Amino acid sequence: MSDVLIINGPNLNLLGKREKEIYGSLSYEEMETLIQKEAKKMNLSVSIFQSNHEGEIIDRIQKAAGSVKAIIINPGAYTHYGISIRDALTSINLPAVEVHLSNIFAREHFRQNSVTAGVCRGMISGFGVESYILALQIGILPAH
Ligand code: DQA
Repeated sequence: MSDVLIINGPNLNLLGKREKEIYGSLSYEEMETLIQKEAKKMNLSVSIFQSNHEGEIIDRIQKAAGSVKAIIINPGAYTHYGISIRDALTSINLPAVEVHLSNIFAREHFRQNSVTAGVCRGMISGFGVESYILALQIGILPAH
């Protein structure tokens, strides 16, 4: 059982290639390595999952019940309209934190609303990969 499951939604696999001025030049693989390195320092075991498909993300959330202690999720664009991802998060009894690389409130109007953050403990938005590291530091784990 991992302590924390990190779920990354659509297009996050293109990190480092996609809109670098917004998301930075760190590649997805480099981001994973960095997160794992920081998690190790905190003595946390972390699994990282990425999918471009809403159903796969929902399946992964459902499977998380009973197999991890907490979820960190960056739903990508599903943040703004993914009601079924929100429902999946409310269907399992696990604490979740939403993270974003960019500050969604400083961007286009359609990005300024999250349908998923309201069912999470909170949201960290705008600090690049640090958003994930900060989420790990919060102490969302029951026995952190
Ligand atoms: C994002 C913000 C979303 O609006 C966008 O669709 C993404 C990435 C972020 O991490 O800043 O894919 O979730």
